[in-house]
Amino acid sequence: MIILGIETSCDETAASIVKDGREILSHVVASSAQMHIETGGIIPERAAREQVRSIIPVIEKALLEAIEKLKNKKQSVPQFFSSSVPVDAIAVTVGPGLVGSLLVGVETARTLAYVFNKPLVPVNHLAAHIYANWLRPEVKTQNAIRKTIKFTEPKLPAVALVVSGGHTDLVLLKEHGNMVWIGGTRDDAAGEAFDKTARILGLPYPGGPAIAAEAANFQMTNDKFQIKLPRPMIGEDNFDFSFSGLKTAVLREVSSLGFARDKKVSSAIAYEVQEAITDVLVEKALRAVKEYKVGTLLLAGGVAANQRLREKFELRIGDSESGIDFRVAPAWLCTDNASYIASYAYYNFKPTPWQEISANPGLTITQIGGRLTERKE
Ligand code: KG4
Ligand code: ZN
Repeated sequence: MIILGIETSCDETAASIVKDGREILSHVVASSAQMHIETGGIIPERAAREQVRSIIPVIEKALLEAIEKLKNKKQSVPQFFSSSVPVDAIAVTVGPGLVGSLLVGVETARTLAYVFNKPLVPVNHLAAHIYANWLRPEVKTQNAIRKTIKFTEPKLPAVALVVSGGHTDLVLLKEHGNMVWIGGTRDDAAGEAFDKTARILGLPYPGGPAIAAEAANFQMTNDKFQIKLPRPMIGEDNFDFSFSGLKTAVLREVSSLGFARDKKVSSAIAYEVQEAITDVLVEKALRAVKEYKVGTLLLAGGVAANQRLREKFELRIGDSESGIDFRVAPAWLCTDNASYIASYAYYNFKPTPWQEISANPGLTITQIGGRLTERKE
């Protein structure tokens, strides 16, 4: 089954075509991040206006790239939707996200589903992040031949840690379509903690990659200048997180140590921010794996692109927690894109009449279009 995925929940406009939930035929992401760097964060109206401009060219590019890959070069774009060349269904993020941005994708998908008479699958952006782990990434070999790396599907049940800009959730994925929420943040999300502390340090948006780069500076210079930040809730017997105290602690350090743009202070703080956030995430996720006695741990969401976080999971699992099948997709599949939207729709194929699909900015990870798949145990 070939699915066209559409994603516009935040500042990206993305379209992908994915075969059988695993094989990426095309992957197009247009980001307005550059625009947001200038403003130090996202201005929702500006993001949506940009998305209105880019959505059609992005979908068109995804279709053309897929045609190229399928060697159906003579097909025009409208024919691609016809029965002779199968785009079997369309999948679109309905929430959570910024309402203006979501509407761009949802209205486009509804129109395409109506005009080309295709099934339309509403997708929860957060749950879909997890499905980056089902995509078979291709790597370019030295002689530029694209090769699919050896890959087996993750086994369920699994614990998944979803860490994005606006959400931090731990869930138990029993089987496709059956997910139980087991914990999450009580205040700021992990990505938000990166973004807000980066801002305090005068680093650019998005804060995650900026903090990671600044932290790498600290490690490289092997500076002895040490700062200690708290690891909120790390010892508590639950699966919840709290990251809002970190920005207060960083503010305190900055005002007591002096000017944030002093490179020495800034990189020492960035290093410790990254250590504090990743320590808590690793500890709680591994505790959940033990508690729920599952063999698979899936890491997902934009923060999963963080190298230090991936490394810490691998070290812990290699060391004391061996036997856990730890999965994380390449960084370009962890940050927002439409390939995992299409993959999610394949494994959770519940087409809904286009008339009944609408943007739902406040969805939680276990909800689809307002329906709960299962309540917390
Ligand atoms: O999932 P995502 O792309 O968008 C949302 O759905 O929110 O996540 C974006 C978040 C941002 O907070 C960004 O700072 C963070 O992911 N992020 C990172 C890294 N790359 C992106 N955080 C830490 N390290 C990174 N390398
Ligand atoms: Zn996301």
